[in-house]
Amino acid sequence: MDSKCKFSLHGRNVIITGASGGLGREITLRLLNKYGCRVLGVGRNEEKLRRLSDELGGLSDRFEYQVFDVSDPEGWRQLAEYVIKGGFEADVLINDAGILPPFARFGKYTCEEIDSAIRVNLYSVVYSLYEFVPIFSKKPNTAIINISSLDALCPLAGTSLYSACKAGVRVLSEAMREEYRGKIYIPAVCPGFIRTGIMKNQRRAVSPLVNFVSMPAEKAAKLILRRLNWGWSRIVIGADAHFMSTAYRIAPVISLRFFNRIFKASKMELFRDIYE
Ligand SMILES: NC(=O)c1ccc[n+]([C@@H]2O[C@H](COP(=O)([O-])OP(=O)(O)OC[C@H]3O[C@@H](n4cnc5c(N)ncnc54)[C@H](OP(=O)(O)O)[C@@H]3O)[C@@H](O)[C@H]2O)c1
Repeated sequence: MDSKCKFSLHGRNVIITGASGGLGREITLRLLNKYGCRVLGVGRNEEKLRRLSDELGGLSDRFEYQVFDVSDPEGWRQLAEYVIKGGFEADVLINDAGILPPFARFGKYTCEEIDSAIRVNLYSVVYSLYEFVPIFSKKPNTAIINISSLDALCPLAGTSLYSACKAGVRVLSEAMREEYRGKIYIPAVCPGFIRTGIMKNQRRAVSPLVNFVSMPAEKAAKLILRRLNWGWSRIVIGADAHFMSTAYRIAPVISLRFFNRIFKASKMELFRDIYE
């Protein structure tokens, strides 16, 4: 059972990474439209962030953006400095930006893929915590929300690298939640498959079936924000995430073997680098 604490997203000043696309974009739109927040979006693609700002119309006066790669500690240092100097009175940070390396056996990853997966998925969160915990500790009712994954609760074959990073994000959040209880709300969000652009780094074709079983990003954003607003500490989103994480908790070895067999039996092109 998740523990509950008092937290509200309404009218907050939110920094969100990965605002230029996918889940981060949907969360940004919802925070602006439904929660009356001011949002500072972070992304590495200025063109996409500018387009988002243009699309916001009348809401754009509550939206600004900064362009940097979240795996660069200097980008975080400069953002923290901007906040300290009063450029944006942030009280909530959402670490959403992330990448999914190709589905593959560990031995098939290149050094570049390993490096970038760890830097973008794990180090970025560590850098953000290093810069923002001291700032948020001094303010009341702050939050650092980390988007982890189903893979942090049920590490699937073919996702070793991604699972390790996302498990790192989850346990970091859970340990720090206790360290900063009463000061900073630090939940971990573990969604199952969501229909976004996350498959763009795959080497193999993505079957339409994957999109079919994935939750629309708009719905995922709605569910995540609602649960955050209830103050939940670990937020699991999607029937797939609930089912697979429960199976893994009950029978860690058998469940992984079972899911692996399903992947293999599907004969999907996407999973070829796991089995060949
Ligand atoms: N989709 C899923 O099934 C799923 C499931 C569980 C968890 N998640 C997690 O949810 C989060 C959002 O993923 P998504 O599905 O929305 O993926 P997405 O559609 O690929 O969007 C990711 C966003 O993060 C940005 N980003 C990536 N690397 C970055 C970097 N180094 N610096 C700054 N921005 C960067 C991307 O910008 P560009 O457009 O420039 O690439 C994009 O805006 C990730 O943490 C992911 O691991 C996703």
